[in-house]
Amino acid sequence: MAKPSFSCSACGASFTKWSGRCEGCGEWNTISQDAGLSTGPAGKSLGARRGHAVALSDLASEEMPPPRALSGIEELDRVLGGGLVPASAILVGGDPGIGKSTLLLQAAAAFARKGLKTLYVSGEEASAQVRMRARRLGLADAPVQLASETNLRDILTTLEAEKPGLVIIDSIQTMWADNVDSAPGSVSQVRASAHELTAFAKRTGISVVMVGHVTKEGQIAGPRVVEHMVDTVLYFEGERGHQFRILRSVKNRFGAADEIGVFEMTGVGLAEVSNPSALFLSERGAPSPGSVVFAGIEGTRPVLVELQALVAPSPHSQPRRTVVGWDGGRLAMILAVLEARCGIPFAGLDVYLNVAGGLKISEPAADLAVAAALLSAREDQALPADTVVFGEISLSGALRPASQTENRLKEAQKLGFTSAIAPAGGKTAAVAGIALKRPSDLVGFVGEFFGAG
Ligand code: TYD
Ligand code: MG
Repeated sequence: MAKPSFSCSACGASFTKWSGRCEGCGEWNTISQDAGLSTGPAGKSLGARRGHAVALSDLASEEMPPPRALSGIEELDRVLGGGLVPASAILVGGDPGIGKSTLLLQAAAAFARKGLKTLYVSGEEASAQVRMRARRLGLADAPVQLASETNLRDILTTLEAEKPGLVIIDSIQTMWADNVDSAPGSVSQVRASAHELTAFAKRTGISVVMVGHVTKEGQIAGPRVVEHMVDTVLYFEGERGHQFRILRSVKNRFGAADEIGVFEMTGVGLAEVSNPSALFLSERGAPSPGSVVFAGIEGTRPVLVELQALVAPSPHSQPRRTVVGWDGGRLAMILAVLEARCGIPFAGLDVYLNVAGGLKISEPAADLAVAAALLSAREDQALPADTVVFGEISLSGALRPASQTENRLKEAQKLGFTSAIAPAGGKTAAVAGIALKRPSDLVGFVGEFFGAG
């Protein structure tokens, strides 16, 4: 049983016994017994012992925003929310072989060249291997310090001594904390290592970037267990056979989530793609049925991308629904709405939908473009090639306007499109050079662009 304690309500002095007058400030009748913090059972609750009072400040306190370090790789700086924040912990996840080490070696070199002391710790490759890659990428002269190490205690000790501004840990799955009794890569090791590194970043002001492999299946011991610990979670995505790579922020305490950076994997590393729309549309041929250009927004930036649909009679009793780059459930919904509200059945038909270029779209505004691609494929009738489409479809078949209509239209205009199909309603500033067609519901859209349906 903890001893009772007493304190003065006037000056806050504390005593072990009650008295009528406070010895601290001389006030009378201000001393009372402190209530415990908790009345729960001893050992299970916090008990009666009080902690120290924490200094409070108000929301208006003046504090300079932390200075951010810029790498000069614009696609990366933007995804980070406008540069690297000191003391931040960042997770970069992605499939094995997608190019994480390449990206981070280039980032390390870029930050180092800008004067930020940078350390690159590889637990996967020998220093000689990393050096070889650096040479191939033309980065050999960058003042990056290398280490090949997996022992977390040794790494932290080194960091304490070196005091870099940025450290890259490649990868968190190879790290080994000697206080945890399991193999590197196991959930408990990954969690313990990530926790140590994150706490280290907060304590010392060093920014820590951790690489994490994601496996397609269960994501066992993958970065998912780390996501809630770190400030920023970036995923590096792309199709292995495709040269485009997308760096996407899925969580960012220091910037917008869902921001993307677009890169191209070349023979000499990753190249920035500053105009992704042009890239995503570069493979588009003559207007063909099933192909529709969607004017989307990724993060803060408009991106045009081609949707491709194929609809064919199915030899199976259970027709196929295959989607790449979009949500399968959302496709089923669009098909159901087309059938129920417009009387256009897809029963007995295989449906394939593909987002060209390896981009993954999650915006509901893609609904109308998907519907257009499906109808265009089904009716074997191409939309005019100079048209972009966007808008959300509700279950009733009504169309809802999308956010940032003007930005989408401007991007379309910039890339040489001359017309757009977008839902009526909402406030829309007209964009010169783009003829806007505005159906109010799906039935109207089908009637206008695909005959009576
Ligand atoms: P890597 O960065 O090692 O992937 P990760 O760290 O995510 O596992 O990159 C793997 C692939 O990238 C590899 O198959 C080869 C390719 N690559 C290039 O095409 N060009 C290059 O300049 C480099 C360094 C790699
Ligand atoms: Mg790697």
